[in-house]
Amino acid sequence: MSEIAKLIVQGKEYEFPVVVGTEDEVAIDVKKLRSSTGGIITIDPGFKNTGSCESKITFLDGEKGILRHRGYAIEELTKKASFLEVAYLIIFGELPTREQYAKWEKDIQHHALLNEEMKDIIDGFPTGAHPMGMVASLTNALTAFNPATVDITSSEEIYTAITKLMGKFPVLAAWSHCKNQGAPFNYADNSLDYVANIMQMMFRIPTEEYKLNPIAVKALDELLILHEDHEQNCSTSTVRIVGSSEAGLFASVSSGVSALWGRLHGGANQAVLEMLENIQKDGGDVEKYIAKAKDKNDPFRLMGFGHRVYKNFDPRARIIKKAADELFADLGTSDPVLAIAKHLEEVALKDEYFAERKLYPNVDFYSGIIYRALGFPVHMFTVMFAIGRLPGWIAQWREMRLNGEPIGRPRQLYTGYALRDFVPFDKR
Ligand code: ACO
Repeated sequence: MSEIAKLIVQGKEYEFPVVVGTEDEVAIDVKKLRSSTGGIITIDPGFKNTGSCESKITFLDGEKGILRHRGYAIEELTKKASFLEVAYLIIFGELPTREQYAKWEKDIQHHALLNEEMKDIIDGFPTGAHPMGMVASLTNALTAFNPATVDITSSEEIYTAITKLMGKFPVLAAWSHCKNQGAPFNYADNSLDYVANIMQMMFRIPTEEYKLNPIAVKALDELLILHEDHEQNCSTSTVRIVGSSEAGLFASVSSGVSALWGRLHGGANQAVLEMLENIQKDGGDVEKYIAKAKDKNDPFRLMGFGHRVYKNFDPRARIIKKAADELFADLGTSDPVLAIAKHLEEVALKDEYFAERKLYPNVDFYSGIIYRALGFPVHMFTVMFAIGRLPGWIAQWREMRLNGEPIGRPRQLYTGYALRDFVPFDKR
């Protein structure tokens, strides 16, 4: 029996359908709210209570700490699949067969070459420019080299656009790092797999042999899987809303990169490491920083703590914490900031302020420590997140376009001046 929700506004009663998702999540369908009430809207800054779409890609339960892609648990995917395999699953809906996977990998490799003129654009950036700004700009610049619009009714054209972006994006990311460092650009080596290629493109220098460490490649693969999709977060919503105007895939993803950059979103991984280093330089006094985070007169926030959706624990943070321990054991190295991070987590989790507000370590709390152990400089942390999130952005863009969703255009409640007379210069 279908349920209804009743809404009484200014003495009048209205009814709206109640819809239920696969995992029994309940939503009130207010699509006809304005038309049936003569203009009433809902107000929800930050969209804390608003579902912007129906989606079949990712399920997460913030209370229970569950994250699944297309029905598969993140814990299983990180252990049993590769980054490209999960990317295929997220984008197309099913795990690839061996043949589909071989074709997917080959098609992506085929596109791992940039038009040489892209180098002129990169040269226009000053050495030392932040790679996130470069990656956002360069992703958009791909539209100049691929001006044809994608016919959304053609699965071949969508597939080509997707494999192009999957192939070229890590090259843009690696070259942004090289430009930042004033280092020469490396081309992809298609004898290597996707993740190994990312490392060699970023770190190989022509004067020396570059030896890939299989432990590092495996750790990076797992870390990237953990970032692949996270339903309607800030950058993904941005990609969907930009794409809803029928802007192309590259332009939509470029806007996602910009949204990810902020320190309240993907930029938190850089902010966490900088915070941990500051605490270390300041003598490692963790309690002092916990007190600062709780002080409402101090703008300081514990970076890597808290999440809009996870109110129990972030399953990705658990996997990453364990992965960090395993990586250091395998590499036979250590990082003093890992001890500070663990101490910070321990103190915060026992503290009433964090418990009351349900603030737990999120995906960014430990990821920076792994990136650093793998040799990535701090300015590349958010770029690595972007490489990981690319399949999610693509999948969400594709789903939105194939569903024929309407252009994203929220309403507002106007609270400015009522009509008033124009005041000429000499009377102001
Ligand atoms: N440190 C201290 N206090 C915090 C923190 C924090 N990291 N996060 C939230 N709070 C407090 C807020 O001050 C607020 O307190 P109040 O109720 O007394 O006013 C309460 O907890 C609720 O916080 P909101 O900001 O309302 O929660 P929201 O869901 O809007 O924000 C967010 C979530 C942005 C992630 C927030 O927790 C935060 O800023 N965390 C630090 C940045 C970070 O790690 N971002 C990465 C998120 S994961 C990702 O995007 C990949």
